[in-house]
Amino acid sequence: MHLTKEAFGNTFVWGVSTAAYQIEGAHEHDGKGLSIWDVFVQKKNKIFQNHTGDIACDFYNRYIEDLRLMHRMHIRHYRFSISWSRIMPLGTGTINQEGVDFYNRLIDLALELGIQPWLTLYHWDLPHALELRGGWVNRAVKDWFGDYVGLCVKYFGDRVKHWMVLNEPTVFSAAGYFFGVHAPGKKGLDNFLAVAHHAALSQAHGARIIKSLQQDSMVGTTFSCSHVEPFSNRERDIIAARKADVLLNRLFIEPLLGMGYPTSEIKVLRRIEKHIKQHDEADLKFDMDFIGLQNYTREIIRYALFVPFLQAKIVSAKERKVAMTAMNWEVYPESIYHILQKYSAYSNIPPLIITENGAAFTDQVVDGKVDDVQRRQYLQDALRQVLRAKQEGVDVRGYFVWTFLDNFEWAEGYYPRFGLVHVDFETQKRIVKSSGQWYANFIAPA
Ligand code: BGC
Repeated sequence: MHLTKEAFGNTFVWGVSTAAYQIEGAHEHDGKGLSIWDVFVQKKNKIFQNHTGDIACDFYNRYIEDLRLMHRMHIRHYRFSISWSRIMPLGTGTINQEGVDFYNRLIDLALELGIQPWLTLYHWDLPHALELRGGWVNRAVKDWFGDYVGLCVKYFGDRVKHWMVLNEPTVFSAAGYFFGVHAPGKKGLDNFLAVAHHAALSQAHGARIIKSLQQDSMVGTTFSCSHVEPFSNRERDIIAARKADVLLNRLFIEPLLGMGYPTSEIKVLRRIEKHIKQHDEADLKFDMDFIGLQNYTREIIRYALFVPFLQAKIVSAKERKVAMTAMNWEVYPESIYHILQKYSAYSNIPPLIITENGAAFTDQVVDGKVDDVQRRQYLQDALRQVLRAKQEGVDVRGYFVWTFLDNFEWAEGYYPRFGLVHVDFETQKRIVKSSGQWYANFIAPA
């Protein structure tokens, strides 16, 4: 299939995504409060080589040159997140005007350059002060979050029209509160279920607040999703795969669509009911204007007797000896096609947008250039699958590459590089990789 931008139609949105903690740095500057990530990275051996996001890409100080570069690369839609503790250092109450000013400058410059801001309200960096009060485990988070969302609409809503409430609730609730491998490093089923319910409630609550304050807004939220397949045709592998699918793909979209939590396949999930109060079920539902899907790979699942709660486990790409990225994720372009089909099969689903897709590979700078053939191929193959889904009738309206700059990849530190633009973290020098040049040419106006 010959890949052209035109094949996607002229209203299709082409962009790039980033997240505050992964690029901004300036973690204690100009009145910013600490977030759970600022604190988590200080703990020993939580992050690859004890890297931190203290400086990251220094985007806080370099956003002007970075936005100009984005503009030169023909990128006209930019998804980024607000650091909650930069504008509300304690998470509630006092406002840090310098933080608000930073985002005002960023939004103004983007618009001046013809770049539409797509704003994510929560990309995992909860104010540490709120974590001390229980964080996402505390039901009060819904109101704290609601106040923060209202402020963002008040300060930025005159210029920002596209909003995403949460980034991947599955990942931050599981990695941060069940496995403890992301901030704040909490563990266990009770924490996870409380967080999942409070995140699902906050997702709809936040969206409702935006809509009530700005009727012409486009409000969405984003979900991590992976195409899931059983390891074999044996019944127990099929059941295991179904359970993984609930956790990886269904847990947050179904309550949002008014279907309730998908608890029938995994008994232990029913314990979430303990957190559900009167009216919650209705409150979990909200008619979003779009759903953001974020896909990187597929997962093969097999039955595993000794895995608590699930009796299921991932058969890694390494074990299967298939092509992998630097994250050890399988390179499997069809995944994004299956995911688009899967979500579009829900009866009352709004339009879909791919809000993240991309890959980490070990890039090399040779004579001042980065020829990242694998990433270019990955993006092209993924786009062919997006187009395939679109041509089969899936209402997919946009595609954002993860990510613009190489950045702080959470527990993996600076090791995996996902950027279209290479960053030398010693000098902060940027080099547009050949994948970035390809994307720029691909999306350039005819
Ligand atoms: C997250 C990003 C992350 C990317 C690659 C997504 O789960 O939203 O913050 O860097 O995947 O791991």
